[in-house]
Amino acid sequence: MKQLQTALDGYSLVTAQSISEHARSAGNNYTIDQIKEGEAELALILSLTQQGFETNAPVQGIMKVLTERLQALMNKSAPAVWAHLASVAQSHPVSSFLLQDPLTRWSFEKPRGYSGDAYLLDFIYEHPTVAAQVEAASPLGAEVYDFTRRSPSAVAVRERRDLLAAHVDAVADANDNAEILAIAAGHLREAELSHALRSDKLKRWVALDQDPVSVGTVSSNFHGSRVEAINGSVRTILGRAQKLGTFDFIYAAGLYDYLAENVAVRLTERCLQMLKPGGKFLLANFARGIGVEGYMETFMNWPLIWRTDEEVEAIINKVRHHLADISVTRGENGGVIYAVLTV
Ligand SMILES: C[S@@+](CC[C@H](N)C(=O)[O-])C[C@H]1O[C@@H](n2cnc3c(N)ncnc32)[C@H](O)[C@@H]1O
Repeated sequence: MKQLQTALDGYSLVTAQSISEHARSAGNNYTIDQIKEGEAELALILSLTQQGFETNAPVQGIMKVLTERLQALMNKSAPAVWAHLASVAQSHPVSSFLLQDPLTRWSFEKPRGYSGDAYLLDFIYEHPTVAAQVEAASPLGAEVYDFTRRSPSAVAVRERRDLLAAHVDAVADANDNAEILAIAAGHLREAELSHALRSDKLKRWVALDQDPVSVGTVSSNFHGSRVEAINGSVRTILGRAQKLGTFDFIYAAGLYDYLAENVAVRLTERCLQMLKPGGKFLLANFARGIGVEGYMETFMNWPLIWRTDEEVEAIINKVRHHLADISVTRGENGGVIYAVLTV
């Protein structure tokens, strides 16, 4: 598939190189025996999966077992061993079955040149935009998609979109002419669910993203509304390169999972500075231990910085800004950690 390259700002770990540099910094202690043991276990997992597909065993069962076994292998492997095993898995012939799933394939091929683009999220949102590609999938691909679109991470992402729309609506109820900023907005799908936007209760909803194609999509989808799509990045925000003004609510979803802690702290501080008195900043981060990391990091080639509640709290504790209130919670699904900071 043709790759469209986006100018990345170097702050988010969205390329194979940036992610492997981050993994290397986590430590490199492993032995040749650990590599050999991991390879042997992986080979067994993948050949049993391949056999399952070749003998037309029920796809949901194959996928469940594959996901669980990859997760168990990842959990017991040193980070550098796991990084090696993930690349071995990606070149195994079983991937020809898994890549028939449009969601796995888009994630693996990265047609936009980086991980976690907004179009990928549309497969998770089951958005009409991707309906034709879903329809075009092989019967096997459709069954694998039926599994991946219902995985805990996908359920968490859809819940995240719903919660964001509810937050925006609550801010609009509490503040006349509310001003909202979405950082790494993607296609701003939460806005499609917002009553406040539909009833024209907002002053502006700024949707900032580093990907000009996604910015263009938001701009045309929400033409004539209070949504303002702008091209910008973590780098431009930290460098104060754009005059964005101040906001009642700023949020970043699907971004902190790509930010090293020092960048996350600086971005949080900058966002807090852009809030009006009493304003709120929300950051969302995938929770570690959701159970699908192994599959995502192998066949989807979609590694993330999965954090614990303590790791999210560590970011907040390093922030130098007065906070009137801090809340760290999870959604019903438990797969995403939400920190809401009030100034
Ligand atoms: C996983 S998507 C999330 C999109 C949207 N927030 C959502 O929840 O559907 C991640 C988005 O982050 C954007 N992104 C990644 N790194 C960025 C950066 N350093 N600055 C601004 N946007 C970034 C990507 O272009 C992409 O649209």
